Amino acid sequence: MLNKQFSTFALLAAATRSLCANVRFEISLTWEKGAPDGQSRDMIYTNGQFPGPQLTLDYGDDVEFVVHSHLPFDTSVHFHGIEQSGTPWSDGVPGLSQKPITPGGSFIYKWTATQYGTYWYHGHARGQIQDGLYGPLLIRPPPGTQTPLSQITNSSKELAAIRRADRDPTLVLLSDWDHLTSEEYQAAERESNLDLFCLDSLLVNGKGSVNCQPQALLNNLTLPPLLKLLNGTFVSDRGCTPPTPKALDEGLNFTSDITKVPPGLNDGCKPTNGTNEIILVDPRDGWASIHWISAMSVKTPVVSIDEHPMYIYAVDGAYIQPQPADTVLLYNGERYSAMVKLDKPAGDYTIRVANQAADQILAGFATLRYAKTHHRHNHTSTKNSTSTSKPYINYAGVNVSADVVPLDLTKLKPFPASAPAPTADATHILRFGRLGANWAWTLSGSALYPENRDFDAPLLFNPNSTAAKNSSLIIRTKNDTWVDIVMQVVLNEAAPAQPAHPVHKHSNKAYIIGAGNGVFNYTNVAEAIKVIPESFNLETPSLRDSFTTPSVLLGPAWVVFRYHVVNPGAWYLHCHIQTHLTGGMAMTMMDGVDAWPEIPEEYQI
Ligand SMILES: *[C@@H]1O[C@H](CO)[C@@H](O)[C@H](O)[C@H]1NC(C)=O
Ligand SMILES: *[C@@H]1O[C@H](CO)[C@@H](O)[C@H](O)[C@H]1NC(C)=O
Ligand SMILES: *[C@@H]1O[C@H](CO)[C@@H](O)[C@H](O)[C@H]1NC(C)=O
Ligand SMILES: *[C@@H]1O[C@H](CO)[C@@H](O)[C@H](O)[C@H]1NC(C)=O
Ligand SMILES: *[C@@H]1O[C@H](CO)[C@@H](O)[C@H](O)[C@H]1NC(C)=O
Ligand SMILES: *[C@@H]1O[C@H](CO)[C@@H](O)[C@H](O)[C@H]1NC(C)=O
Ligand SMILES: *[C@@H]1O[C@H](CO)[C@@H](O)[C@H](O)[C@H]1NC(C)=O
Ligand SMILES: *[C@@H]1O[C@H](CO)[C@@H](O)[C@H](O)[C@H]1NC(C)=O
Ligand SMILES: *[C@@H]1O[C@H](CO)[C@@H](O)[C@H](O)[C@H]1NC(C)=O
Ligand SMILES: *[C@@H]1O[C@H](CO)[C@@H](O)[C@H](O)[C@H]1NC(C)=O
Ligand SMILES: *[C@@H]1O[C@H](CO)[C@@H](O)[C@H](O)[C@H]1NC(C)=O
Ligand SMILES: *[C@@H]1O[C@H](CO)[C@@H](O)[C@H](O)[C@H]1NC(C)=O
Repeated sequence: MLNKQFSTFALLAAATRSLCANVRFEISLTWEKGAPDGQSRDMIYTNGQFPGPQLTLDYGDDVEFVVHSHLPFDTSVHFHGIEQSGTPWSDGVPGLSQKPITPGGSFIYKWTATQYGTYWYHGHARGQIQDGLYGPLLIRPPPGTQTPLSQITNSSKELAAIRRADRDPTLVLLSDWDHLTSEEYQAAERESNLDLFCLDSLLVNGKGSVNCQPQALLNNLTLPPLLKLLNGTFVSDRGCTPPTPKALDEGLNFTSDITKVPPGLNDGCKPTNGTNEIILVDPRDGWASIHWISAMSVKTPVVSIDEHPMYIYAVDGAYIQPQPADTVLLYNGERYSAMVKLDKPAGDYTIRVANQAADQILAGFATLRYAKTHHRHNHTSTKNSTSTSKPYINYAGVNVSADVVPLDLTKLKPFPASAPAPTADATHILRFGRLGANWAWTLSGSALYPENRDFDAPLLFNPNSTAAKNSSLIIRTKNDTWVDIVMQVVLNEAAPAQPAHPVHKHSNKAYIIGAGNGVFNYTNVAEAIKVIPESFNLETPSLRDSFTTPSVLLGPAWVVFRYHVVNPGAWYLHCHIQTHLTGGMAMTMMDGVDAWPEIPEEYQI
C-alpha cells in the first residue's frame, strides 16, 4: 500500500513537473563559411552547428526561445506546426506578428506546448531555409496518452518494444542544398525571369555529397512523358529539366533570358566527397521510431530505408491509424513518424532520399546502422558508405518493383478519430497562378505578397488599419466559426502548367476534406457535395498543417481544407517552396477579428 501510494505520488509529481516546466532555449545565429555537401559557401549556423540543435519539450512546458542574431541581415524564427494558442506574438513572421530581428538584435519567443509530436523551427524572413536556418523540435506526450501503437502488433512483447521506441524517437531532418545563397538564387530568378528549381544536393541531418550521375543513366531515369516533352533534348548533368520548356512550366506571357542564369546553377555537376549521416539503432531494442521532417526548400523527396518496411503512425505531429509503407513522399514542411522493426542481420542499410518530381533527378543517402550501443543519438559522420542493401527506390525515387508499398495518402485517419463540422460558416476561394513574371506566384489570384509587407507595422498590432481592412491579401474570419479554403489551381497563358504547391497554414491544423479535377465552380462545399459527393470525405479526413495541390499539366484542379477558428491572431498562409514564397505566394488570415487579442506589454512595439 505504502509503495503504491508512493508511486502514485511520484507519478503525480512527475506529471506536475512535466506540466509546469519552464524551458529556456537560447540560440545564436551566425553567418559563416560551411560545406555541408563538400563545397563551401556562406550559410547560417545555429549555436555553431547545422542543422540547429534539437529542442525537446514535454507537453505543457512553457518555452522561452531566445534568438540572438549575428546575421548581416534581418531574420526571425517560426515554430512550424506549433499552434501558438494565446501567443500570436510568438509566431515569428515579420510584418504579421513582429518586426524583423535586425543584425545584432535579440528576440524572446514565449509559448506553451499545448500539442505534442514532431515539429521544427526555421527562419521565416525571406528564403532563409535555403541558407540553413532550421532545427528539429519534439514535444513528448503527457503520461497516459492514448496511442494507436497496438494496431501495429498483436504481440504484447512487441508492443512493449514499440511503446519504448515511441517514447524515444530519432528525429531526422531531410533538406536540400545549393551552393548559391537564397538571395543569389532569387537574384538569378529575377535577372533571367525564370522560375528556377535546380539544386546541388539532398542532405540528411545536414550531411551529404554532390552526387553526379552519368548522362546515360539520367536519360534512362527520365520519365517517358517528360522525355517526350523534351523533344530530343535531355535533362542536364545535374538531372535538371531545363527551366524553359513552355509546355512544362514557363509562362507564355513573359520573356525570359536563360543566359542570365549563373553558370553552374542548371548544369555543370562537380561531384564532392561530403559527409554521410549514420543513424545508429540498437537491435536489442527490437523497434526504432524515426521521425522524418522535410526541411526542403524546393524539392519533394521520397524517403525509404533499404529492407525496412515502415509503419507510419503520426503525420505532422499528430497520431493516425498506422499505415504500412516502404516509401513515403514528403512535401515541404511535412513530418511523418515511422515505426521500424529491427529484425534484419546486423549491418548497414542505406537510407535513400530521392526527389520524385519531374523537375530534377537527384538523390541523397545516409546509413541506418545496427550497433549495440547506448548512444542511440550519436550521429557519426564518415564518407559515403558503400552498403550493399537492397533498395526500394532508384535514384529518381521510383519503386524498383511492383511490390514496393508507397504510403497511401488517402488513409491518414486521425487517432483518436476526429472530424470537422459538417458544414462551414464561410468559404474563401483562392486562385493559384502566376502573376506578372515567371518567378512570381499568387495565392489569392489577384496579388503578390510583398516580401517586406508591414515590417514596421505588423498586422497583429494594427488590425484596424485601412490596409488591414481592405486587401486581397487578407482573409478575415470570426472566432469560433468553421472556414473552408478552396485552393484552385488555375491554368492560363501565364502558367500553362503548375508544380505542386505545399501550402502551410500557421496556428491550428485543418482537415483536408475534398479534392478534384477541373474548376470548383460552386459557391461552397455544401453545394458541391450535392453534385460531386465522391470528391469529399467529411468523416475521416486527414488533419494536417499543410495541404498540397497536385502538380497539373493538362487541366486545373482544386483541394479544400476546413478549419475551426479558435485562436485569434494574424496567421500566415503560404506555399512552403521558398522560391514561391519569396515570389509572392502568401496571404494573411486574420482569425477572430471579433475577438482580437490584447498584446502583452513586453511585446508592444
Ligand atoms: C491482430 O489480430 C486480429 C484478430 O485476429 C487481426 O484481425 C489483426 O490483423 C491482427 N493485427 C496484426 C497487426 O497482426
Ligand atoms: C532503362 O534501362 C532499363 C534497364 O537497362 C531498361 O529496361 C529501360 O527500358 C530503360 N528505360 C529507358 C526509358 O530508356
Ligand atoms: C521538336 O523538335 C523538332 C526538331 O528540332 C522540331 O522540328 C519540332 O517542332 C519540335 N516539336 C515541338 C512540339 O516542339
Ligand atoms: C572521393 O574519394 C574517392 C575515394 O577516396 C576518390 O577516389 C575520389 O577521387 C574523391 N573524389 C573527389 C571529388 O574528391
Ligand atoms: C554515394 O552512394 C550512392 C549510393 O551508393 C551513390 O549513388 C553515389 O554516387 C555516392 N556518392 C559519392 C560521392 O560517392
Ligand atoms: C559515437 O559512436 C562511435 C562509433 O559507434 C564511437 O566511437 C564514439 O565514441 C561515440 N561517441 C560518443 C560521444 O558517444
Ligand atoms: C512500381 O509500382 C507500380 C505500381 O505501384 C508498378 O506499376 C510499376 O511496374 C513498378 N515499377 C517497377 C519498376 O516495377
Ligand atoms: C479595432 O476596432 C475595434 C472596433 O472599433 C475596437 O474595439 C478595437 O479596440 C480596435 N483595435 C485596436 C488594436 O485598435
Ligand atoms: C479598397 O481597395 C480598393 C482596390 O484597391 C480601392 O478601390 C478602394 O477604394 C479601397 N477602399 C478603402 C475603403 O480603402
Ligand atoms: C497573357 O497575355 C495576353 C496578351 O497580352 C493577355 O490578354 C492575357 O490576359 C495574359 N494572361 C495572363 C494570365 O496574364
Ligand atoms: C461546373 O463545371 C463542370 C465541368 O467542370 C460542369 O459540368 C458543370 O456544369 C459546371 N457547373 C456549374 C454550376 O457551372
Ligand atoms: C475563440 O473561440 C474558441 C472556440 O470557441 C474559444 O475557446 C476561445 O476562447 C475564443 N477566443 C476568444 C478570445 O474569445
